[in-house]
Amino acid sequence: MTTPYCYTQHLHNAQQSNALGAMVDALFSAGDCATAYSKICQWDAYQPTPLISMTDIAAAAGINKLYYKDESSRFGLGSFKALGGSYAIDCLSQDQSNHALVVCTATDGNHGRSVAWGASLCGAKCHIFIHANVSEGRADAMAALGAVIHRVEGNYDDAIAACNEASAQHGWQIVSDTSWEGYRDIPKMIMAGYSVMTFEMMEQLGDEIPSHVILQAGCGAMAGALIASMWHHWGSRLPMIIMVESDRSDCVYQSLKRDEIHLVNIVEETMMAGLSCGEVSLLAWPLIQQGASHVVTIDDGGVAPMVRWLASPTDDNRPSVIGGECSASGLIALLAIRQDAALAHDIGIDSESRVLVIGTEGNTDDELYEKIITGAL
Ligand SMILES: Cc1ncc(COP(=O)(O)O)c(C=O)c1O
Repeated sequence: MTTPYCYTQHLHNAQQSNALGAMVDALFSAGDCATAYSKICQWDAYQPTPLISMTDIAAAAGINKLYYKDESSRFGLGSFKALGGSYAIDCLSQDQSNHALVVCTATDGNHGRSVAWGASLCGAKCHIFIHANVSEGRADAMAALGAVIHRVEGNYDDAIAACNEASAQHGWQIVSDTSWEGYRDIPKMIMAGYSVMTFEMMEQLGDEIPSHVILQAGCGAMAGALIASMWHHWGSRLPMIIMVESDRSDCVYQSLKRDEIHLVNIVEETMMAGLSCGEVSLLAWPLIQQGASHVVTIDDGGVAPMVRWLASPTDDNRPSVIGGECSASGLIALLAIRQDAALAHDIGIDSESRVLVIGTEGNTDDELYEKIITGAL
């Protein structure tokens, strides 16, 4: 089910806590996150998403508690990405110099929906670049929000290149969730938007601090945002952070192994479309490098069964959850870790552990979700 990770860095000593603290202070302030939270809370459609106790999967994993932050209902867009792009556009549209705002982005679907939605709310024009394998269902969902869709040959990184070229040619404002040299401000707004999840989880958890948090990564923006914002709240009591990636797009793993950002050429797309990204965001990289202690890469084999398990609880006390492919990843990683005694020992996951995972998406593609639920996939 998993390919072995070999990156372990035990970050729970004072020196490393200080290094992470310094990094967070330099890159991603608590004030930016608090501003995003207070603004987003005032949006008409705002509702916190639930934190669900996954009793049946916790029992299978032999751990004490398993918390699942269920993002399937976020703003009716089906994923946590709804918090990011839309928030950046909200900030941009309030800048008077942007009166005829035209935005563009590359996406595998979820980020594009957020950008298209944000643009539609403030009357901006929106161009979305998608790669060859983004499903028609996801393209249609963005078009339905008023975006112009451009389909590009190749993978996600090719879509980014096409988007950058069009932006340079037409003067469109790129709203990218990933950051690179010279392009940090907008990805930072997007990450601040994601940090709303942390504020909600703090409310929902009360005094309880999980022992481990498993964060899936595409470009790592969500992981970077959550590591930083959890640090703002918990400081050196930060839980152990475990990253999970698809083995087909393991850019965090390959970068951590080399201690520098490494571009992974994606040869085959994973069905966890949101995780299909070949390069770590420049802004997220140092936060992950300092904040995460382990990376697990997983293949696609466990995804469909886990999506079905989420929908059909094996414990009457646990609600049915609509969780898409990316939502399965943290749970698959947890079960895989528990099946490998040496790995579980190294990570410190045992019967006392209280693990938090992020259910980053619901049904974001009807056709695919239906195929998974009916067992056709
Ligand atoms: C549903 C879902 N989960 C996780 C991710 C990974 O987020 P990031 O690219 O910020 O690492 C994405 C990215 O698109 C996504 O759509």
